[in-house]
Amino acid sequence: MLIKIRKSWEISENETLSESQYVGRRDILKTMGLGGLMAASSGLFGNSIANAAGADPSAHLYPVKRNEAYVGGRPLTPEDIATTYNNFYEFGSHKSISKAAQALKLRPWTVTIDGHVEKEQTLDIDDLLSKMPLEERVYRHRCVEAWSMVVPWSGFALKDLVALAAPTSKAKYLVMQTFQDKDVAPGQRQFWYPWPYTEGLTIEEATNDLAFMVTGLYGKPLPKQNGAPLRLAVPWKYGFKQIKSIVRFTFTEERPKSFWQELNGNEYGFWANVNPEVRHPRWTQATERDLRTGTRIPTQFYNGYAEEVADLYKVLGKTERLFM
Ligand code: MTE
Repeated sequence: MLIKIRKSWEISENETLSESQYVGRRDILKTMGLGGLMAASSGLFGNSIANAAGADPSAHLYPVKRNEAYVGGRPLTPEDIATTYNNFYEFGSHKSISKAAQALKLRPWTVTIDGHVEKEQTLDIDDLLSKMPLEERVYRHRCVEAWSMVVPWSGFALKDLVALAAPTSKAKYLVMQTFQDKDVAPGQRQFWYPWPYTEGLTIEEATNDLAFMVTGLYGKPLPKQNGAPLRLAVPWKYGFKQIKSIVRFTFTEERPKSFWQELNGNEYGFWANVNPEVRHPRWTQATERDLRTGTRIPTQFYNGYAEEVADLYKVLGKTERLFM
């Protein structure tokens, strides 16, 4: 018999009404064969910007089945908040970039896999999507600026992409990079930023069950402002690790320097694991503002995912664990 032990951050079902309402509506639409309509129409669940991906050729893939092993522990953040309160410095260094991000062209889109792999390859995004088993997971999402959301991402396990890449024994890290095109992303004309946006994980982190490649949100293709067509979700880490609009995966022996680390190594580190005890010069990490309610709630170690990931960091010393 399978006994589900409730984790410390989980709450009772009657508290997650908005999440179950969303699932109910999504399932009814799917049963009625209206998934495509849901993906293409604006206004069923949120604002029209969220659905500006209406012409996205992957729209027919959504909604996908939810993997119930991943629950948010709090009600979902309304879609219009998650899709209009964004960080995407390529389109501006403020939160209201959702309109500007519509300039991003999603096709053709290719993803290059190189470095220490058996065979370097460049994949068309639609080929990649057709190879991967898509599912929905509800994850908490905590930014270092001390705000947080709970969102239903669709996508596939990053470990499946690592398996497809077939890294050699030399590969210790997975480095990811965002597209670069100053014509569509005016932020990239700001020469003082170390473009392209770059992030990295150890191979052990990248193959942890929680590491997720996101391709959809709220049962639809991922909106451009949230990092279409492919972004990372590693919910035990701060939001800045969750690189958007990825075009390249490189397997390396050396630990990479990420975008924010390069810019300000005193504030942003490689590990960036959510930790209420980390002293950050600008934002307390002890609490966070839940964007749904506007209230402050205590921040949990590893964003509440300690059971799944704490073992990865046993080897780190206390100083390293207490730094960003
Ligand atoms: N990826 C790219 N390419 N550029 C960015 O500016 N911002 C990061 C991360 N990924 C960023 C990025 C930060 S700071 C956060 S908090 C999250 O994206 C925000 O994701 P969201 O807009 O989907 O909430």
